[in-house]
Amino acid sequence: MTGRKFFVGGNWKLNGDKKSIEELANTLNNAKLNPDTEVVCGAPSIYLDYSRSKLNPNIEVAAQNCYKVAKGAFTGEISPAMIKDCGVNWVILGHSERRHVFGESDELIGQKVAHALESGLGVIACIGEKLDEREAGITEKVVFSQTKFIADNVKDWSKVVLAYEPVWAIGTGKTASPQQAQEVHDKLRQWMKANVSEAVANSVRIIYGGSVTGGTCKELASQKDVDGFLVGGASLKPEFIDIINAKA
Ligand code: G3P
Repeated sequence: MTGRKFFVGGNWKLNGDKKSIEELANTLNNAKLNPDTEVVCGAPSIYLDYSRSKLNPNIEVAAQNCYKVAKGAFTGEISPAMIKDCGVNWVILGHSERRHVFGESDELIGQKVAHALESGLGVIACIGEKLDEREAGITEKVVFSQTKFIADNVKDWSKVVLAYEPVWAIGTGKTASPQQAQEVHDKLRQWMKANVSEAVANSVRIIYGGSVTGGTCKELASQKDVDGFLVGGASLKPEFIDIINAKA
């Protein structure tokens, strides 16, 4: 037993409408979910209030991004305070699509992490290497560097979940093997031990994301250092229930 509560996040990305959200919420609300698993659904900003109102209280909601300050002339952005005002307690930050589609830097992600935590949100902080970086043998260099920009902005690790999402596995149907996931999660925990503390290294949840399905989740969940998942496509389907219940 690791003593770490299993954590399964869903990332709905740019998907859904009120009808589909209500249908998904009804499916999850009526499902038998492992009470020892923490469940968080990442909804599009415009539907944060609505998603919160439709999901049972045992299922948390997350924003998929937020800005680094509380207010100001930043058209189109949302703040952690606004997220909390919707009854939402989590935010996903540093997702690979924010990094590689929208050009968010490690520094900006670190600033967002700091402000989100200061504002009382829990943070699902995403890291992960691209295929060319893995093929060049620099996976550890990349994920350690990304993690440092996050770690330098964290005072309370109890409010942070680290999500390792190899970019080459996201949305590709090519899930990392349990061995690949365990190897990187173990290296990340060793990095935390050396650069943060042994206590944090042992307590922080490190979850895996990248083409997790009902068919791949159980063997991944059996890995010592895989503390849960961040799920994209499959979180929009009933199989999300199987993934939530992957850890017996
Ligand atoms: O944040 C989770 C996401 O990036 C993984 O997406 O569709 O590969 O499960 P998917």
